[in-house]
Amino acid sequence: MKGIRIVSTGKALPKRIVSNDDLKEIIDTSDEWITTRTGIKTRRYCKEETNTSLAIEAATKAIEKGNIDMNQIGAILVATTTADLAFPTTACRVQKALGMDEEVMSFDLNAGCTGFLLGLNVARGLLQTQRKKYVLLIGSEQLSRIVNFEDRGTCILFGDGAGAAILEASDGAYFQRSWTRGNEDVLSCPGIGNGINKLQMKGSEVFKFAVTVLEQSLRTVMEDAGVTIDDVDYVLCHQANARIIGHVQKKFKGYEDKFMMNIQKYGNTSAASIPILMDEMRDEGKLQPGSKVLLAGFGAGLSWSSAYIEI
Ligand code: UT7
Repeated sequence: MKGIRIVSTGKALPKRIVSNDDLKEIIDTSDEWITTRTGIKTRRYCKEETNTSLAIEAATKAIEKGNIDMNQIGAILVATTTADLAFPTTACRVQKALGMDEEVMSFDLNAGCTGFLLGLNVARGLLQTQRKKYVLLIGSEQLSRIVNFEDRGTCILFGDGAGAAILEASDGAYFQRSWTRGNEDVLSCPGIGNGINKLQMKGSEVFKFAVTVLEQSLRTVMEDAGVTIDDVDYVLCHQANARIIGHVQKKFKGYEDKFMMNIQKYGNTSAASIPILMDEMRDEGKLQPGSKVLLAGFGAGLSWSSAYIEI
């Protein structure tokens, strides 16, 4: 089976920047606590924007940057936990907004913060069988709508944003593993008609889970691929907490610089964090064709997934 090439990327972030000091106006916290416990300095919250408008903007930028022929996009996948509507899907609204051909498969995919990684795996399968050249994969979230501002331990973490990637089949290496624990206790949000629609999280339990599975899953895909961390150019982990990434960096002593981070600016944007980071890196001239990259997502479920990909 072929691998995946990331042809182009785009991102969209709400204009409203919310600093740690801004949060002090509504909860009992401090810039010092949030910075030392999470690494986050600011996050973005939607005001005029919506989850769908962010998804459309990120997709438009990816299409423009890659000079992509939209008639060659065979599928639109939106990884999200915070779709504006239960249905129709965000993906089909993106199709309409972009004025795309009707012959395009479109659907949303909800796998919490692991969503973008699982979307890549689904896209890989579609690219082997569809008639068209590309898949448009978007991670888009409006978490500010579901965080509980009465829970200071969780509301400080999350932000809104979207990232998009245009994918095509390639001959590069691609290895991915995914896991699920079926856990409902430590990270959840009730669905429509199920009471208060707010995110609930046992932070320290998620923390312990994350540091353990991140290292394990990165090592597993490297073993599958027959590579070592020496061979890898960059490691992009879901941006959940700088301390989680810091823990994993320590396990790869001497290679700390390969772990990328932008959580200080955007907080945890769930399914959007990895494609936003990818787009920033591409804008900075990193992630060139042929780059060897490790990706790792983890979150609600508890679910997690890692991939080794030559893009
Ligand atoms: O995408 C995956 C989703 N989630 C995650 O990745 C979350 C992973 N977990 C975490 O990032 C961390 O557990 C948190 C940042 C959420 C919390 O950090 P922690 O070090 O686990 O803190 P804690 O919840 O154990 O709280 C420690 C103390 C408590 O005070 P006492 O009981 O020790 O007096 C809290 O009441 O810090 C207090 N606290 C705060 N103080 C100021 C909790 N939240 C705040 C706050 N400001 N915002």
